[in-house]
Amino acid sequence: MNHELAEYLEHPVVLIVDDEFLQRLPMREALEQGGFRVIEAEDGAQAWELLQRESPDLVISDVVMPGMNGFVLCETVRALEGRQHLPIVMATSLDDLTSIEHAYQVGATDFITKPINWGLLGHRMRYILRAARTAQALADREFELLRTRMEIIRRLGQAAEYRDNETGKHIQRMSHYSALIGRMVGLTAQDQALLLQAAPMHDVGKIGIPDSILLKPGKLTGEEFGIMKTHTLLGGQLLDDEPSLLLRTAHTIALTHHERWDGGGYPYGLAQREIPIMGRICSLADVFDALTSRRPYKQPWSVERAVEEIKRCSGTAFDPELVRVFCGNLPAILEIRATFADPTGLDPDLDASDVSRG
Ligand SMILES: [Fe+2]
Ligand SMILES: [Fe+2]
Repeated sequence: MNHELAEYLEHPVVLIVDDEFLQRLPMREALEQGGFRVIEAEDGAQAWELLQRESPDLVISDVVMPGMNGFVLCETVRALEGRQHLPIVMATSLDDLTSIEHAYQVGATDFITKPINWGLLGHRMRYILRAARTAQALADREFELLRTRMEIIRRLGQAAEYRDNETGKHIQRMSHYSALIGRMVGLTAQDQALLLQAAPMHDVGKIGIPDSILLKPGKLTGEEFGIMKTHTLLGGQLLDDEPSLLLRTAHTIALTHHERWDGGGYPYGLAQREIPIMGRICSLADVFDALTSRRPYKQPWSVERAVEEIKRCSGTAFDPELVRVFCGNLPAILEIRATFADPTGLDPDLDASDVSRG
């Protein structure tokens, strides 16, 4: 451990915010005796300034102060990026239950009651600090796990997509279209997030399809198309038996994103609401993006032409309700398309052939 870090852990910096000098003085003494380094502010505004410059490990704030009071200070600090876990302790009067409640509401970590027991103050603050550090470490680890999992999932989807798509932007556009459609049909925020995160894996089964079929520039023979279709089942197998909700959703999408509303899709020939909503949404988003993108076997279509095609397939390939929602939100769809545009640009309306073979 380097010297600076040891010093930091041994002598945490505490910011005292109180307008009364006679409160700050004994508090400073008690805390310094407890091994803390102390900085002081006379009111909320001064504390706010100090917080931007210094990085205290803990804040003890009075509630009633001229100008910015302790509650407003606490609320303002919580809104600051990276300060959600900074321990903020409010000093309130013993009988003031409303203040204590309010303190928690604005994000205070804990409270101490006045008159303060100076002998115990240092111990109490050490305890709060330790708890806060443990919470922060846990949150960091959880975030790291989530980030790693998301990254693995993203790369898995990309690995599949790289095999038949030059840019990998397809999965970004398609998953954002999916989440947008999900929002417009009233899926919960959790389901929208799941869609966004799971849709990139829709074609993960293509990892198991030979290049001779996947990268073939012309039309596929019947036999080749039969093999291509198995990417849904391969994806399903790859993502099977997963305890996480995210991967279960990805499993559903991989299996059902080529089912059709009229029952003529694959692999199972499910129809209408037999097809899970996640699969129905991804199917529409996937085809729209396939239509408007360049692929080894086709040129990109213009948006107008692709939208006409989507409308034409309402009630046959696609859930009519989803088509309605999709067409009613074209500006937002086009915004996503522009955000995740292919670097080479998109040529409108060139000769189109087979548009959605996988
Ligand atoms: Fe796709
Ligand atoms: Fe597919």
